[in-house]
Amino acid sequence: MKNSIRRASVGFGCLIILTALLESCNKPIEALPGPARTPPMGWNSWNAFQEDIDEEKMKRIADIMVSSGMRDAGYEYLVLDDGWMAPERNAAGELVADPVRFPSGMKAMGDYIHSKGLKYGIYECRGYLTCQKLPGSFEHEQTDMNSFAAWGVDYIKLDACYAEINGRLTTEDLAIYHEAIENTGREMILSISDFGNGAWAWGGKNYGQLWRTSGDIYPWIESVYHCGETSGGDGAIHPDFSGLWQFAAPGYWNDPDMLQVGNLENGVEDRAHFSLWCMLAAPLMAGNDLQQMSDTVRDIITNPEVIAINQDSRGHQGYKIYKQGDAEIYNKPLADGTAAVFFLNKGEKPLDLTLQFSEIGLKGKVKVRDLWKQEDVGTFKDSFTVGNLGQHEHILIRVGKSGSKPLPGPEPMSPEEYTVKADSYLSEIPYIVKRGDAPAINRSYNGAGIVLNGEEYAYGLGCKSRSVIIYKLDKTVDRLHALVGLDETSPVDETGRFRVLIEDAFGGRAIFGSGKMDKGDDAMELDIEVKGLDFLLLEFTGKGVFGNWADLRAEADQSDY
Ligand code: GAL
Repeated sequence: MKNSIRRASVGFGCLIILTALLESCNKPIEALPGPARTPPMGWNSWNAFQEDIDEEKMKRIADIMVSSGMRDAGYEYLVLDDGWMAPERNAAGELVADPVRFPSGMKAMGDYIHSKGLKYGIYECRGYLTCQKLPGSFEHEQTDMNSFAAWGVDYIKLDACYAEINGRLTTEDLAIYHEAIENTGREMILSISDFGNGAWAWGGKNYGQLWRTSGDIYPWIESVYHCGETSGGDGAIHPDFSGLWQFAAPGYWNDPDMLQVGNLENGVEDRAHFSLWCMLAAPLMAGNDLQQMSDTVRDIITNPEVIAINQDSRGHQGYKIYKQGDAEIYNKPLADGTAAVFFLNKGEKPLDLTLQFSEIGLKGKVKVRDLWKQEDVGTFKDSFTVGNLGQHEHILIRVGKSGSKPLPGPEPMSPEEYTVKADSYLSEIPYIVKRGDAPAINRSYNGAGIVLNGEEYAYGLGCKSRSVIIYKLDKTVDRLHALVGLDETSPVDETGRFRVLIEDAFGGRAIFGSGKMDKGDDAMELDIEVKGLDFLLLEFTGKGVFGNWADLRAEADQSDY
């Protein structure tokens, strides 16, 4: 059954028939105790105002969160993003509020937010500076967490600018914050904002409750789809996983970044964005200027039936069951035995789309409710078709009978399947993190065989810069071997550089570096010890140039290769 999901998700155009799901003993996703049992909901200042925030504006936002009905719809956190702090710490080394913008201080800000029945969120960065070059928390971790606790903070968005010069692996860095937060004795959610550095893969749930899966989202629909693909598709992981759904559960969530609803071209795009985020069990952090919110936008972000999909207690992230060109169908099995199904047309041509109920474990006559219209559409036998969906249009329905046995979801991939063992080619194992262009598997990026120094290699990865891939390693692996070099057919005459790093992009611990290579240079042999490492990052950089990791394999000290 697993293979049927995989094949279908790899090959666009295949309808995924999951009838075998009915027999599968679908394993429950592991839930964690603690806060964020459902995806956090709130409003964050960044998408609307960037660093142009002050206490009067934030108070107005708090007031509107209440008067607009947002708070009652579930938006509980008001998060102040970058720009709240003064450029210098005080004599005691503590963070202080910007004296002009926040003259009453950050404790007073929190008190106001709490007085409205909301929770208080704040931004910091684990680099020595924030992304806006204000004081970061590096080497002030406990002091800053103590300040936040004293101010009544409930939610910390922790950014990662300049973290690459901390000299710490991300896991080492986050362990410091995790402990510092615990030391305060106050429950504060930690939102890992690291542009999609693979927290789902290396154990982000040990440190925080949500982690970014993408770079920053922008107020246009292509950016929304791009970020959505990092969580719901193969934007950040090997296609065999069919998205990141298996790495989310009650207590920890994939975060394709904050909402741009209200900032897009029109209501059609705003609604598509909101439905997609709800299906992906994404944190719902509104990012529009609430002072100018139209009724249409308010109605979108407060629709109770759509929010209920996002906040469903089963916490199963939605996943794609169909993709053909610009047409997509997602399924999200829910706690009460029903499922949410989302039909989306990302492209220009109008589309008809059909869901066979058997694909989501249902059969016979099935009740269908339209969640935006908030009305029952009727009962349908075996399938449901939506007709003539225009560009960015979608239909979001809830199907099945509430109170029946929970419907099965797909089966997660087991860690053994995505862990590299000794005596294997890495290109044969699904990578767990990808940034930049996806590598070509056992091919050069030009689609032909991998050729280096005039010899062709059956196994390896063909990359187009910039390309970052992370693999999980098994304890049997002692050495990594490859031949690296630029592809002769590379379309540009730029230099390229290969590096292997321990664990992640911010740790900065390179264990191999090719230096700059030119097209026509002899390929370079890579043969390094990787004993005891859990994760390896392969990085290829340059400008549009093609690079090959030929014959890329993991070996034990006594390998037969
Ligand atoms: C970025 C982050 C944004 C915003 C900004 C503030 O790194 O991804 O969401 O927080 O920094 O400077």
